[in-house]
Amino acid sequence: MSHKSPKDFFAPLAVGAPAPVREIPFRPSRAIHFFDPSNPKMVDKIPQMVGTVDVLLGNLEDAIKADNKLAAREGLVQIAQATAGLGGQSGPTQLWTRINALDSPWALDDLTTLVPAIGDKLDVIMVPKVQGAEDIHYVDRLLAQLEAKAGLTRPILIHAILETARGVANVEEICGASPRMQGLSLGPADLAADRKMKTTRVGGGHPGYLVREDAPRDAEGAYAYDADRFRFQQDLWHYTIAKMVDACATHGIYPYWGPFGDIKDTVACEDQFRNAFLLGCVGAWSLHPVQIEIANRVFSPSVEDIRHARRVVAAMGDGTGAVMLDGKMEDDASLKQCLVLVELADQLAA
Ligand code: GLV
Ligand code: MG
Repeated sequence: MSHKSPKDFFAPLAVGAPAPVREIPFRPSRAIHFFDPSNPKMVDKIPQMVGTVDVLLGNLEDAIKADNKLAAREGLVQIAQATAGLGGQSGPTQLWTRINALDSPWALDDLTTLVPAIGDKLDVIMVPKVQGAEDIHYVDRLLAQLEAKAGLTRPILIHAILETARGVANVEEICGASPRMQGLSLGPADLAADRKMKTTRVGGGHPGYLVREDAPRDAEGAYAYDADRFRFQQDLWHYTIAKMVDACATHGIYPYWGPFGDIKDTVACEDQFRNAFLLGCVGAWSLHPVQIEIANRVFSPSVEDIRHARRVVAAMGDGTGAVMLDGKMEDDASLKQCLVLVELADQLAA
């Protein structure tokens, strides 16, 4: 990161000035592995996980019992202070936290405890249930005060979870609400509830959300009822992922798939992650170590894709015009797609 002090980072823009060029540098974040800092069994495993996963996230919000909120917050401080290589500008594994919702009794204490104690190690603060730019402004201003008081020179970034209908409607303004915005995750469980969808799962599809192939007709043109005709289960999340990806791309920040709750169904988890990757996401949450390997693999371009992309780059020479490769037309625009893959492969290998 080439960040200046938080003060420079937030220098006000002149009226009418163009939007600032984003300074959120790419850092690998294919798997954001959630752990409960109040759970000693999970905490014991953290030191060995450093270097094996891009992001470790100490979760303070949902899934942490109300009685354990304080223990989780304090546990996160202890783990961050005691674990070498976790968090900070150059650690091999970033340290993120998910604070409690801004309308809960805990969010303010989360921030006022964590920033002075471990603000130098905390890379990103994930804010749940974000409704609009005002939520980001609140956290942004609070972080600015707490950073100044603690003498921190590197700004802590903000990641918003898109998990309310209002948040989805305001996704553009959320992305642009602060130069601290690092990215967005889609939270399918809360979002489904807020929209009054009729699902009970954390991510994934539903066998009832489908289309069937057209009904066959008999010789007279009447429908021949055939209950077994092909059914195609549909993607419940396509619209929201695409909307989130567009908003993030517009603002130069990073989109993520959130949780996939059926830990044993590693195939469906991989499908969910891959759909997100193909649509433009850079990572997903991991709720169990088995999902880390899936995310690391899925959110890295495959060897074949990189090889093909490099061939197109080489064949396109100065990058203009059109060439035929393996019977397919390649031009400036297909070159750009290939450069996305090559750049990502290089960034992940760096
Ligand atoms: C994640 O927080 C979700 O609600 O899916
Ligand atoms: Mg949620």
